[in-house]
Amino acid sequence: MIKYMVIGDPISHSRSPGMQNAAFEACGLGSPYGRRHVTPEELPEFVKFARKELAGVNLTVPHKAAVIPLIDRVDPEAAAAGSVNTLVIENGKIFGTSTDGYGLEHALLANFHRPVRGAAFCFIGAGGAAHATAFHLAGCGARAIRLANRTIGKAEELADRLRQRNPELLVETAGIGDTEQLARWFADTDFLIQATSLGLRPDDPAPFPLELLHSGLPLSIFDTIYRETPLLKRAGELSLPCAGGMDMLIYQGAKSFEIWTGRPAPIEAMRRGFLEAQPC
Ligand code: ATR
Repeated sequence: MIKYMVIGDPISHSRSPGMQNAAFEACGLGSPYGRRHVTPEELPEFVKFARKELAGVNLTVPHKAAVIPLIDRVDPEAAAAGSVNTLVIENGKIFGTSTDGYGLEHALLANFHRPVRGAAFCFIGAGGAAHATAFHLAGCGARAIRLANRTIGKAEELADRLRQRNPELLVETAGIGDTEQLARWFADTDFLIQATSLGLRPDDPAPFPLELLHSGLPLSIFDTIYRETPLLKRAGELSLPCAGGMDMLIYQGAKSFEIWTGRPAPIEAMRRGFLEAQPC
């Protein structure tokens, strides 16, 4: 019986059912995880259904912020970020949290073996992905978070919210076209996080001029997009440490699984399930 599901608009591309059912199966818990296409207009009705019929939900674009006023309790970090990707439903009460930041943190640890505590981050992009993850990295003890975005106002809005919650944190903003500032930041940044939606389509350009990258920079480069982007290709050519978004998806799913079941997530089973999952 389906007790968990991922919802989004669109949703057919989601590999979460394959990944989560691999985890449930590895623990002898059957295949209780489905998917449903839910439009923004349908979200309130879906939440009513979930309250009665489900034990857990994952939310993807465009529901991560819109669900917040519809549920009973929200984790403070997810509330500050304005982003919820995991619902836990018990006795008709719905609790919302976000595992995206955990997913990014653990993807960085798994790929680069460098600590997040004390590290400086430069985000390219200040939309949904940056909101969902930056508060978690700040909470892990990041030294600095720098935000470069095409629309500077959106970077400033996120920066203000980060500063409010983390008064000790250095938070800086720039327009994505301010190449001098980007070059200065890159020389003093541990992790470059590509968090724009550029790269989703095969012919997308890089979000900033790739000439700003050169070997010898202290950067580990993480692209939240799950495919080889021009940024990752260039980073590879320069032998800069780099990774794409797959592990972030796997670890955010692993954390959701652990919250729902109270069991350690079988990461390798989830990775296999993720890789074998056919978007439909
Ligand atoms: P999502 O919820 O899918 O993350 P979003 O919140 O609109 O979508 O965020 C998309 C991010 O990619 C934003 O940082 C966006 O920049 P703007 O805030 O200026 O819109 C960035 N982005 C999208 N297309 C871009 C482009 N062609 N060049 C630079 N940045 C782009």
